[in-house]
Amino acid sequence: MNYPAWDVPYIGGTWVIATIAIIHVLISHFAVGGGLFLPIAERKALREGRDDWIPLLKRHSRFFLVLTAAGGTVTGVGIWFAIGLANPEGTSALIHNFVFGWAIEWVFFLVEIAAAAVYYYTWGRVSNRVHLQVGWLYAVTSLLTLVIINGILTFMLTPGPGWLEVAGTGQEASRFWQAFFNPTYWPSLLIRTLVCITLAGAYAFVTASLVKGADRAPLKESFARWSARWMIPGFVLLPAALGLYLAVLPPASRDLLLLGVDSAGAGAFTQVTRAVLFAIIGTATIFPIAFLLVWRDARDLKLGHAVAVLALALLVTGATEMAREMLRKPFVVREYMYSNGLRATEVVQGDALDKPYLDSSPWVRPEERQAWAKSSSRSIHHMARGEMMFRGQCMSCHTRDGYRSTRKLLANRDRNGVESILVMLHEQPADSPYNRFMPPLMGTEEEIAALADYLYADSTAARQAYLEEEGLTEPETAPEEQPEETQQPDPLTTLTPDE
Ligand code: HEC
Repeated sequence: MNYPAWDVPYIGGTWVIATIAIIHVLISHFAVGGGLFLPIAERKALREGRDDWIPLLKRHSRFFLVLTAAGGTVTGVGIWFAIGLANPEGTSALIHNFVFGWAIEWVFFLVEIAAAAVYYYTWGRVSNRVHLQVGWLYAVTSLLTLVIINGILTFMLTPGPGWLEVAGTGQEASRFWQAFFNPTYWPSLLIRTLVCITLAGAYAFVTASLVKGADRAPLKESFARWSARWMIPGFVLLPAALGLYLAVLPPASRDLLLLGVDSAGAGAFTQVTRAVLFAIIGTATIFPIAFLLVWRDARDLKLGHAVAVLALALLVTGATEMAREMLRKPFVVREYMYSNGLRATEVVQGDALDKPYLDSSPWVRPEERQAWAKSSSRSIHHMARGEMMFRGQCMSCHTRDGYRSTRKLLANRDRNGVESILVMLHEQPADSPYNRFMPPLMGTEEEIAALADYLYADSTAARQAYLEEEGLTEPETAPEEQPEETQQPDPLTTLTPDE
């Protein structure tokens, strides 16, 4: 707990990051694809004397300028703010390893947006040759930003044995290249590049669909047909690329995927599986639709058709990205750092998990610490300690009241039930199902008891509010099998067990 915790109600920091990141991913992949599309299309137009393509391409390039320069920058900086607040420990670990990677990426990005601007504003003002060269500069630099960021993103899922060997020793940066070109680097780069190219084709469809008038029908047809071809590489190669990717995934991540298949409809991991299935089916659908549209009658391509193809492509990209994030659970950097900032390298040995968790936190005032030492189990200080445990170790994945709410997840458990989950998280028995998606719980017996009391009080309170809101009263007698410790019957089990 070296950093303060950022407590975002209902959605949690996770969803703040995810929302910004998904938009950013879509924009950036779009920009990379568009970067390649523009100079290639311009070259074709120049070579084949298709002068009527030029105004179309100019319009097309304006979109990419606005997209990268405004959308890309704002969401890119937004990600930094969000990850710095929601996951400072993970962000710090990444910066310590990849600061030069990022520096290089920013240089490429700066050149990319400058080139996009020059490209758009110099249509017809410089020689064709120079204009095309600027286009290529835009294409190459935007592709290079992907080449770099891909190294960092894949590192988080598969840091690779070379880097893990020195993880936690202070020598991590010496394995920069091994970390960068990690096991999933190439398959992921291939997938992302194919996605970029597909998105470029899908967006060019939109530009084509906007061409109006009978006299311009041949232009519409030629541009739409040519744009559809941009989707062929994805259609042909994506399945193989995905296969390659799955083959190099760590077995534990593949297990998470299968967990969803086994428990379809029953738990959180069906989400990953569903996202992957959706991505596969979506990808398989986009291409036939696109080809049907241009093959049947490219002159009749409607904006609605084009937008539908594009929307499907964007949804698929978003779903794949979500699945990838889920596959990394419970880690930020697999095998090295858990999502809550706990370092696997520190907690695996000996009795490290029994060490006091809150002791090292600079966010506890000395007088608070003294109060804790003296506090009885029902005091406000005890609850404060429990809450700090929750913020430090659970809140990176759970909220109290919204997304993956601990209140809901614990609603049917009594105080002992809550504690037994925590003990399971703490002791990590080999057969615990939680090991696959939750980090071990660190702390002393008292700290864990404080967390249990806090969670139980919080969930009971939520239950009370629920009953009041529904105008219900507690049943008079407890069911037979209630343990003696609980005086409270369990109303939710007798009401609507929908969660
Ligand atoms: C790395 C992310 C992560 C962290 C950190 C985490 N959890 Fe979870 N937890 C999950 C996921 C994922 C699930 C499955 C949720 C579902 O099925 O909807 C889960 C499920 C649960 C459940 C329901 C289990 C069941 O059998 O019904 C409880 C209770 C729970 N977590 C408590 C905690 C507590 C307490 C902490 C902090 C000590 C914590 N979690 C930390 C990811 C995490």
